[in-house]
Parts: sequence; structure tokens; C-alpha cells
Amino acid sequence: MEFKFDNILVWGRSVEEYIQMFSLTVEDIRLRILDCAGGPANFNVEMTRRGGRVISCDPIYKLSKSEIVHHIQDAERQIMDAIQKNVDSFVWRDIQSPKQLREIRIAAMQAFIDDFSLGIQERRYVTGKLPILPFVDQQFDLALCSHFLFAYSEHLSEEFHLASIVEMCRVAKETRIFPLLDTSGKLSPLLQLVFKKLKKQGYAVEIRQASYEFQKGGDKFLCVSRSGI
Ligand SMILES: C[S@@+](CC[C@H](N)C(=O)[O-])C[C@H]1O[C@@H](n2cnc3c(N)ncnc32)[C@H](O)[C@@H]1O
Repeated sequence: MEFKFDNILVWGRSVEEYIQMFSLTVEDIRLRILDCAGGPANFNVEMTRRGGRVISCDPIYKLSKSEIVHHIQDAERQIMDAIQKNVDSFVWRDIQSPKQLREIRIAAMQAFIDDFSLGIQERRYVTGKLPILPFVDQQFDLALCSHFLFAYSEHLSEEFHLASIVEMCRVAKETRIFPLLDTSGKLSPLLQLVFKKLKKQGYAVEIRQASYEFQKGGDKFLCVSRSGI
């Protein structure tokens, strides 16, 4: 598979994808949610519109709108090229074609861009980066992390993963991470190690079924909480 990226891409998914990736229930979406590594996803803007309480955190929020757009355009080229070359590595069911994928993602990211200035003013977009977050202990009920941890296993060490998950568990009662595959579509080589070490530290750790599969086999998320400590 030609699916190795040189850097961590700035690319955003839609609220519908988030709901399915993390199996978010009607009760979940009323919680105080942190979207960690939220990037240009439209989860924050759409949830806010629905009366939700979401704060997103990402290092790109320190950039200007035009700088973010530039990063998105760079990611678009790399991602669409990789998808065209590896079309059989994906499940074309909910998203039916590369063309539709591009349309869904670009629409989601445009909604983020349109909301960015207001979201910064309202402190819904907060600049910050793992493994240290600018939030107080247990500020959130739920922390979500989509397509950063495990996805970029080649770029981020086991220590970084552990420290980041422990940090998300410091600021939120429960942490969910999707996917468990890396960008090449293989199960992250870090998953087992991180799973065991978190358990050893007393965290409650569980792999749960998602109602989403786009990368073939990418249909599970990791759920971690401090309840076991
Ligand atoms: C592929 S995007 C995923 C965006 C969004 N979560 C989604 O799934 O649509 C990865 C994001 O991770 C962010 N990122 C990079 N380094 C980070 C760090 N140390 N802590 C938090 N986010 C980081 C990038 O800026 C980028 O927005």
C-alpha cells in the first residue's frame, strides 16, 4: 500500500462520521466533549448548532484561516492521490466513491473554516497539543481523538501515545480513540503495548465496536477511563 504520509495531515471529517466512529448516543452528545486533535473537522460547529458543548483542541488553531486552508489543500492532494492508488483498501458503502468522499470532507472542512473566527472568539477552538493539554482536571465528560493517535503510529512513539492517553484521561472522565489502524491500514503495532501498560497503571481499557468502517477492518475504537484506578 502506498499509504505512508511524511507528516501528520490537516484533514477533517464530518459530524456524521464522528457519531459513527465513536458510537455516540443521544446521551453522549449532551456531554461536555473535548475533540482532541480536532483539526478542520466540522464536529464542533455542527454539535454547537445542535446545542452541544464541544471544545476542540489542535496546534493548527494558532494559525490564520488562510494558513489552515493551505495545509488542507496540501493534505487533499496527498490523500486523494493515495486513495485513488489504493481504492480497494476502503469500504465504499456509506461513502460510495472517491469523488463523494472528497465532496463530504471538503463540505465538512468548509463548515469548519466558516465557523473558525467565531469559534476562536467563543473559545470552542483552543490551541494546544498532546501530550500536554491546556485544561483542568476532569473538565470534560468525554475526550475524543480521531485519526491522530494510532493512525500516525509511524510518527508518534509508544511513550507519546501513553502520555497522551493519560493526559486525556486527566482532563476527561472517558477517552475514546479511533481508528486502531495506522494510515497504511494495518492494526497499529503500538496498540497491544499501550493497552497493556494502561491496564497495568490501573486504567479501565476496552476495545469497542464502532458503527463505521471506511479503512477496511477499521471498525473499532479504544475506550479508556480512570475508573479502574
Ligand atoms: C488527520 S487530522 C484529524 C482531524 C480530525 N480529528 C478528524 O478526524 O477529522 C490530524 C490532526 O492532528 C493534529 N495534531 C498534530 N500534532 C498534534 C498534537 N501534538 N496534539 C494534538 N493534535 C495534533 C493536526 O494538526 C491535525 O489537525
